[in-house]
Amino acid sequence: MTHSAHHPLPFISEPTATDSAISVRGLTKRFGEFTAVSGIDFDVARGEIFGFLGPNGSGKTTTMRMLTGTIAPQSGSIRILGEDVVASPEKVKRRIGYMSQKFSLFEDLTVDENLRFYAGVYDLPADEFVKQRAYVLEMAGLVGREKELTANLSVGWKQRLALGAATIHEPELLFLDEPTSGVDPVARRHFWDLLYDLAGQGVTLFVTTHYMEEATQCGRLAFMYAGRIIAEGSPREIREQHLLDIGDRDDSGRLRTASIEDVFVRLVTREREEAGR
Ligand SMILES: Nc1ncnc2c1ncn2[C@@H]1O[C@H](COP(=O)(O)OP(=O)(O)OP(=O)(O)O)[C@@H](O)[C@H]1O
Ligand SMILES: [Mg+2]
Repeated sequence: MTHSAHHPLPFISEPTATDSAISVRGLTKRFGEFTAVSGIDFDVARGEIFGFLGPNGSGKTTTMRMLTGTIAPQSGSIRILGEDVVASPEKVKRRIGYMSQKFSLFEDLTVDENLRFYAGVYDLPADEFVKQRAYVLEMAGLVGREKELTANLSVGWKQRLALGAATIHEPELLFLDEPTSGVDPVARRHFWDLLYDLAGQGVTLFVTTHYMEEATQCGRLAFMYAGRIIAEGSPREIREQHLLDIGDRDDSGRLRTASIEDVFVRLVTREREEAGR
């Protein structure tokens, strides 16, 4: 565990919402002199699909690692499913799932052994494992490939196995860090269908992506830039809020409709220009 005994007490700037899946206030993480996450605030409602966007190095993974209790923040408060994660990171571990950016599968274990390993991590009772294993293999389309070495699976299969491993204990809230990077368009669609199924079962999803068409699939979005949240809202709200700022006009002087990608590129370009001044 990375929590150190001399870790300073969190500074609670504002009360966090207790009924939401995730409630974050003033969350800050520094690595030495460098501030990776700089006092961010946001809430995610239960059952929501929340998209977390931002350019490389903007602090998405660092935020996710703090939310899952993997690393401790310097300051700020995190409430996950009503529990204070900064004070007791162990409390929510069994209620959340985390599919990390590197998939955290053991390449030299079989499909079945990877699932068994994660069931062990979550102390899943044997009967529940049998039930969940069957469900996960079916969901991931891995029935008949249980004995295959994970190293031999293509990226798309690995990704679905990683989703299976992250959900073996039926978490209420699932964190997914760029789950579809490097996966072909068909496999990505299929993966999102699986995410929708989970959301339909009431699972809250917190997902990072660089694919803008995936961003538009989310109920709400936050855009990160250099450790701060620079825009937040539903995809439609974000487009509408920034349409006037972007101000692209067609030949007849009408405002052009902006896509989420347009908004994203403009926001990042503007932030970079302002930082350069
Ligand atoms: N353990 C660490 N020690 C030092 N710096 C770190 C550490 N972890 C992350 N950083 C730095 O913090 C910044 C944010 O990194 P982070 O991985 O959170 O970005 P990200 O938004 O997930 O990027 P990407 O889209 O590339 O995955 C980067 O500049 C990174 O180099
Ligand atoms: Mg990352």
